[in-house]
Amino acid sequence: MDDSGGWHKIEGDMIPGSRRPSDPVPRVRRPLIVVSNREPYLHARSPDGQIRWSKTPGGVSVALDALMRERGGIWIAHGAGPADREVVDARDRIKVPPDGPRYTLRRIWLSAEEERRYYGGFANEGLWPLCHVAHVRPTFRATDWAAYQRVNARFAEAIVDELADPTTPVFIHDYHLALVAAELRARVPRVRTALFWHIPWPHADRLRICPWRKEIVRALLANDLLTFQLERDRRNFVWAARDELGAVVDGRVLRLGDHVTRVTAEPIGVDFDRIMGIATDEGLEAEMHRLRRELQIGTPIVGVGVDRLDYTKGIPERLEALDALLSERADLRQLVTFVQIGVPSRSKLASYQEIERTIDRMVADINRRHRTPDGHEPIRYRKSALKLRRLVALFRLADFCIVSSLHDGMNLVAKEFVAAREDLDGVLVLSELAGAAQELTDAVIINPYDIDGFAKAINRAIDMPRNQRRDRMQAMRKLVAGKDVFNWASEILEELEKHGAVSYPGAARLRQANGPAPGERH
Ligand code: F6P
Repeated sequence: MDDSGGWHKIEGDMIPGSRRPSDPVPRVRRPLIVVSNREPYLHARSPDGQIRWSKTPGGVSVALDALMRERGGIWIAHGAGPADREVVDARDRIKVPPDGPRYTLRRIWLSAEEERRYYGGFANEGLWPLCHVAHVRPTFRATDWAAYQRVNARFAEAIVDELADPTTPVFIHDYHLALVAAELRARVPRVRTALFWHIPWPHADRLRICPWRKEIVRALLANDLLTFQLERDRRNFVWAARDELGAVVDGRVLRLGDHVTRVTAEPIGVDFDRIMGIATDEGLEAEMHRLRRELQIGTPIVGVGVDRLDYTKGIPERLEALDALLSERADLRQLVTFVQIGVPSRSKLASYQEIERTIDRMVADINRRHRTPDGHEPIRYRKSALKLRRLVALFRLADFCIVSSLHDGMNLVAKEFVAAREDLDGVLVLSELAGAAQELTDAVIINPYDIDGFAKAINRAIDMPRNQRRDRMQAMRKLVAGKDVFNWASEILEELEKHGAVSYPGAARLRQANGPAPGERH
């Protein structure tokens, strides 16, 4: 971390043509309030009775934690760890990271029933399949909706409790918390909020499935700034706001009643410097050896896939493509090991139990059918999360990495893989249906519904000449380095700071009288 008083200097030119050391990247340093369902750290008792903490895996959590370590402030989230209550103070707060505190985590407690209806039900059986075209039917229940409303109000109350200064920027995350800004603004009219919607926003025909779409769209418009991953999601939302509620659209500015919301698109990035730091660490080589031994990798070619076990990730399609390739090119059976890391997720829901069973079955079947006479099986399947350091080591072992989402807001695994490859090697095989494909056009782009084309693409990745691998990786690294998680956050928070002050109720009338705020583009 730098201490250069609000400006972050990039030391050294890591990628030719990317950020130059002389180009300081401005980083706003005001403390923040971040609000998300998932907490960055959780506490649990280990078998010896000691309370131990762990970091929540996953790109989004890692990215936001990086931002909070740099900015400081308060992160409000659901306390889901079994020993979470035992370590907080009287105000349900704890300083984190536990091994070197930089900011405060404020935990919110949910009953098992609330968790089942708000998180499992409305957010993950309703909104998640609504927003992802992955052929899982969204299920909406009035009881889940009621719990979702109640829990969102609870998050808003906790923000009020922490908001000593009403101008502190409040940065809300994702589809679990769509109603928070409206609840919050009803209590603190001048609050400044930005919400980042991490997942896709559905097209109008699909959105209509949701019985409470109008309420959700209206509540999202209570934010000062609403940001999506892609321009396509942004457009879909703008249509919804206009068609469902009659919001007035003026470029990026939407007006509903006397409230003004800026609606933008800003793809999320990764903590490139941190991943680079691990990738260039002397100890990484030893970690790679350990991993190779543990996973019993003896082949010259290694592929990887790292995903939450989610039906949107296209894991069965990936396995089908590998199967097709190994059937077509029997010579590869003793040359390739594919490591699939599957992190169990939302396991109480039937749709997740089913995808897990499907993947288990497919891996066993493929390993049985393609086993070589000397006992080598092509797929190593591990169902647990990896710490960032091990993840980077795994990425560095790989000749290719597959991201084959059927639909994905962004997919940070794709960007993490690129960030880890400071050796300028490795091929990314990337679904055109993941948001990351909009930026990482130098990946080998696949369509997970076209199994033959997918298999051919993996073959191409395996056979790709060194100079082509280097050129493609270099181009992708330039992109991922140039737009990291800090740049992403700065874009959003600077936009909020610039325009937030004029968007409280009554501001529109004021602005009609006084003309647009300075710097506002219409
Ligand atoms: O990418 C969408 C997202 O909801 C993230 O916000 C979250 O970190 C991730 O999926 C994991 O989901 P969950 O919090 O349900 O484990």
